[in-house]
Amino acid sequence: METVLTTSPAEAAEFIKNGGICAFPTETVYGLGADIFDEAAIGKIFTAKSRPSDNPLIAHIGDPDQIAVLTAEVPDIARILIEAFFPGPLTIVLPKKDEIPQLASAGLDTIGIRMPRNRTAIEFLSHCGVPLVAPSANLSGKPSPTTWQAVYEDLSGRIDCILQGEVTEFGLESTVVDCSGDSPLVLRTGALSIEEIQNVLPSIRIYEVSGTEKPRSPGLRHKHYSPEAKVFLVSNEEEFLVSEGRNAFIGLKMPERGFELTKICDSTENYARFVFDFFRECDRQGIGNIYCERVNETGIGIALMDRLKRASES
Ligand code: TXA
Ligand code: MG
Repeated sequence: METVLTTSPAEAAEFIKNGGICAFPTETVYGLGADIFDEAAIGKIFTAKSRPSDNPLIAHIGDPDQIAVLTAEVPDIARILIEAFFPGPLTIVLPKKDEIPQLASAGLDTIGIRMPRNRTAIEFLSHCGVPLVAPSANLSGKPSPTTWQAVYEDLSGRIDCILQGEVTEFGLESTVVDCSGDSPLVLRTGALSIEEIQNVLPSIRIYEVSGTEKPRSPGLRHKHYSPEAKVFLVSNEEEFLVSEGRNAFIGLKMPERGFELTKICDSTENYARFVFDFFRECDRQGIGNIYCERVNETGIGIALMDRLKRASES
């Protein structure tokens, strides 16, 4: 399959209308979209990404009116979040309507809903005219793509089209909040910080899998965000040993020792924004070990540390 590259949201939307799958930029990471009512197209997403079939997809809307297409129940906690953070890097999980294919939600009776605020994404979604399911546009397990080139690297020849946009603003995925129960729960930390959510919903908590309980967010079971290189978390304040071989470093402060490849970020926000791209660059250059400086777990630092820990576990 030839993958068409375009900067035209209208041209990209034609592929969706014709049953195809198309990658597009959002403010978090690039997504890979399909019409939520087109089961054959949704199937193509799972194939193109080699995505496990038990991993639910997020529905992306271009207009708040489309929430009613997806769910019949919008409880007060969800209304507060929608009012405060749509459009933006937040996904809310609500009971889904029966008309939404089971394939979209991986068999769950809930659906994640998000309205991106990236201008190109909004234009694209409005040309499509229906909600799109869209996971991150990477091969399953790889770091999420923050540039269209990263999408091309993973999925060229496997998808119909890439809508080319800028480097994404946040570089990490949206925060996922389950609003289908009695109290709101963060299932995945992300680009919208807990502190910002706390301002409007003081009762918000971060979900932790306890004991033998089935995780509420199936995707979190799978291997994620991993470059080919080994990832290590280090503190710059202490001496740390590095392995033999080709080593890279990313963090906020230049380490004492030299590395073959180094990225020093001037803020935690920029560290989060560029970390996945750095992982990919390390793989392109055949780096064996990536040393990542730990950050304080506040603001976007919470989601950044979550991704770094997961990348280092594999
Ligand atoms: O920022 C983002 O959210 C990006 C952009 C493209 O919007 N999308 C994204 O999708 O990260 P994906 O498929 O890579 O991650 C979706 C994750 C699932 O793995 C799962 O953890 C959670 O969101 N999720 C989605 N629907 C859910 C549901 N109904 N219940 C619980 N968790 C859900
Ligand atoms: Mg993903």
